[in-house]
Amino acid sequence: MTAVGIDAIEIWTGKLQLDLPGTFAPAKGEDPGKYTKGLGLETSSFPDAYEDIVTMGANAAKRLIDRKGLDPQDIGRIDVATESAFDNSKPVSTYIAGCLEQVYDGDFHHANKGERKFACLAGTQAIDDAYNWIRAGRNRGRAALVIATDTALYARGDPGEATQGAGAVAMLITEEPSVVELSTEQGYGSADETDFLKPNQQFPSVDGKRSMQVYLARMREALTDFESVAWDTHPDDFAYIPFHTPFPGMVRKAGLLGYRHMIRDTEIEDALEGRIGRQPREEEYDDREAYEEAIRGYMDDLKETEEYRSWYADTIDPTLDISRRVGNWYTGSVHLARTSALRRAAENDLDLAGKKLLVASYGSGAQAEIHAETVMDGWREEIEAANIEDQLQRRYDLSYDEYEGVHDRHNHDMDVEMEEFTQPEGEFVFTGWGRMSERKYDYVE
Ligand code: HMG
Repeated sequence: MTAVGIDAIEIWTGKLQLDLPGTFAPAKGEDPGKYTKGLGLETSSFPDAYEDIVTMGANAAKRLIDRKGLDPQDIGRIDVATESAFDNSKPVSTYIAGCLEQVYDGDFHHANKGERKFACLAGTQAIDDAYNWIRAGRNRGRAALVIATDTALYARGDPGEATQGAGAVAMLITEEPSVVELSTEQGYGSADETDFLKPNQQFPSVDGKRSMQVYLARMREALTDFESVAWDTHPDDFAYIPFHTPFPGMVRKAGLLGYRHMIRDTEIEDALEGRIGRQPREEEYDDREAYEEAIRGYMDDLKETEEYRSWYADTIDPTLDISRRVGNWYTGSVHLARTSALRRAAENDLDLAGKKLLVASYGSGAQAEIHAETVMDGWREEIEAANIEDQLQRRYDLSYDEYEGVHDRHNHDMDVEMEEFTQPEGEFVFTGWGRMSERKYDYVE
């Protein structure tokens, strides 16, 4: 079967940043350690006055199209994943296509466009749609452009405010891809949950602590489901495991859970037995509570072992480099985690071709999806071509007062004018509203 997967990746970060331990924590009267050590975050990214989900998505897509030397005719599908849409009817993908048509000869009239929604999971689901479209032979040799774009803002004072972020990830899905091939096998963990939702409102209603439990429960189900169609996973099977990363501290918990699951009945569990005992098995306990307490004790011990620490440092930590500096990008977050791992591998000159990733996506509401990916020969060239570090470094550093102004500016219920902090150059910008309240965009040379 021909390989289908990700051929190219480009990101676009909001052009402003907020220093969490240095600016946000003191303004909130909190210990900076909560951000750096607890949540695992350094800075978050925010859109400047002229940026939104359309400009960030279109700018990431333009970088990708230019770098790959594509023509509109080469793209047969444009899917946008977002949970920050501002229109219940017209999809963001039409706005983005409209932007791109300002700068390229030709148009995207032939392209099937849509918008995917399932909280942060939608980016992965849009890739699925593209995969299925290509596998079904409906693509006529064309590629699919998948764009995950969000402004992940919370109401001011909400605990989630600490985890905000804004940015877009554009990915090209093709046959014979350069970056990764996607596995056919997938696992799901899906349930009707009320942990994080936006019932016709911009900022989410969140039960933060519960959302973390739901994340872990659905991930566990998805891994078991993946194993039922793929194989019994082992920690050594994967070079990296990119997780959906609302903040790195969440992934620390998910990584430990995944490791415990994968070492069960393996030589690793045997080797650890003398030091921390074997994993508690539910059938050995009279009630669930006693079993859960025993599991918690085992996990506390497991987390301190050299085996786990070294696996975490190699397999999980590299996926968090970018997230630590930009916060939650919702639909783009797991795709940033993959990008981050590949970037670390390129920096360390690792030979990744042929190695496997286990990609663990998640969306509140709630659903986890897990699949495997095989790294392709062209991964290094693709990842080195993206200008990630430049983008991260050039962001304007906000004071706390400026941050509040930016938050108000992007609050859909407020009409706030704001001077931009950065100068747009070679990018799409938001210019205002049209006669039917549609958003208008221009390209600035
Ligand atoms: P909080 O209550 O402000 O924080 O909110 P906390 O007091 O629980 O502290 C956070 C961590 O820092 C804790 O670590 C503290 O111990 C530690 P843990 O015990 O959990 O390991 N800490 C410190 N460490 C060192 N030095 C210190 C210090 N102080 C505290 N001085 C919460 C945290 C995550 C609840 C909040 O940020 C929130 O509500 N976030 C939004 C929801 C969220 O991100 N949920 C994650 C799972 S759901 C998901 O991923 C989906 C999502 O992306 C949306 C979608 O799918 O669309 C959100």
